[in-house]
Amino acid sequence: MDQLLNGKVAVITGGANGLGQATAELFAKAGAKVVIGDLDAAAGEAVAKGIGETCRFQRTDVSKPEELQALCDLAVSAFGGLDIMCNNAAVPNRMVRLLDDDLDAFDRVFDVNVRAVIRGTQIAGRYMRDHGGGVILNTSSIAGIVASFGVTSYRASKAAVIHASKNAAIELAGYGIRVNCLVPGQIETKLIKDALAANTDPVLLDKLEMAIREVMDSYQPLRRRGMPEDVAQAALFLASDNARYITGVVLPIDGGITAGDAHNYIEKFDEARRRVMAEAGVSE
Ligand SMILES: NC(=O)c1ccc[n+]([C@@H]2O[C@H](COP(=O)([O-])OP(=O)(O)OC[C@H]3O[C@@H](n4cnc5c(N)ncnc54)[C@H](O)[C@@H]3O)[C@@H](O)[C@H]2O)c1
Repeated sequence: MDQLLNGKVAVITGGANGLGQATAELFAKAGAKVVIGDLDAAAGEAVAKGIGETCRFQRTDVSKPEELQALCDLAVSAFGGLDIMCNNAAVPNRMVRLLDDDLDAFDRVFDVNVRAVIRGTQIAGRYMRDHGGGVILNTSSIAGIVASFGVTSYRASKAAVIHASKNAAIELAGYGIRVNCLVPGQIETKLIKDALAANTDPVLLDKLEMAIREVMDSYQPLRRRGMPEDVAQAALFLASDNARYITGVVLPIDGGITAGDAHNYIEKFDEARRRVMAEAGVSE
């Protein structure tokens, strides 16, 4: 593989699982030294061990400023710098509709998904300003672009990430810092199960996830479920010098979901037309 990130040092929050893990592994393959910060120490240690000497894990709660700062400091002390900051960690919101939502998760969702992303941008931005520039990648979601039913706090948090990233792109461009926003679609990770976590029975949880995934799969214009590596590849491009003139973009990696109406309403119009014709006894 091309060593697109040779000599670069990357910090990835939420790198113990899912998209962050895939990004850490791909960045390491592309020649980067990687520092992972995550609450999940067992998974984080395992990912770091799998990558080897070019990776470090540090247990980090990104909502705690001193822990986020310490994570970035580790990149500098262990590997000599900080070139790429991936603010990827986030928490889901229980699947609940607006009028039934007691907003009990709101503060945590905004602390982790928004405040920590802005703070991570600040911490990395200050270092990069003083050391010749860098790249910041913030992870939003299609939920931050498309409104729908439910999970209002999560959607609002992901919309905030988009705007904060664009703002940072403009403010930091003068220091040679590019800031871009990744917008994953429906990617196979444990996020859905976490959003359903009120149901503790593992068999029921599996069934619920399968039912939800079936519905999600029917919305995929590209006709397959997104995988963590699909997002990692986009992150690799944006982090690399190949994207040297790209800043402030909001890049969906969603198989086409946000391109338009994935319900294929034209097909449904046609079904309706045929039904009415058949009921009226009119042959085509
Ligand atoms: N999977 C999807 O379909 C999807 C879709 C759109 C956006 N996203 C976004 O992608 C990013 C990664 O999600 P994922 O699907 O890989 O989820 P995941 O649950 O597999 O991974 C998220 C990681 O973040 C960590 N984390 C949570 N809170 C933290 C905290 N306070 N401090 C440090 N680490 C913390 C978790 O321990 C976990 O390892 C998130 O920003 C998520 O909102 C995911």
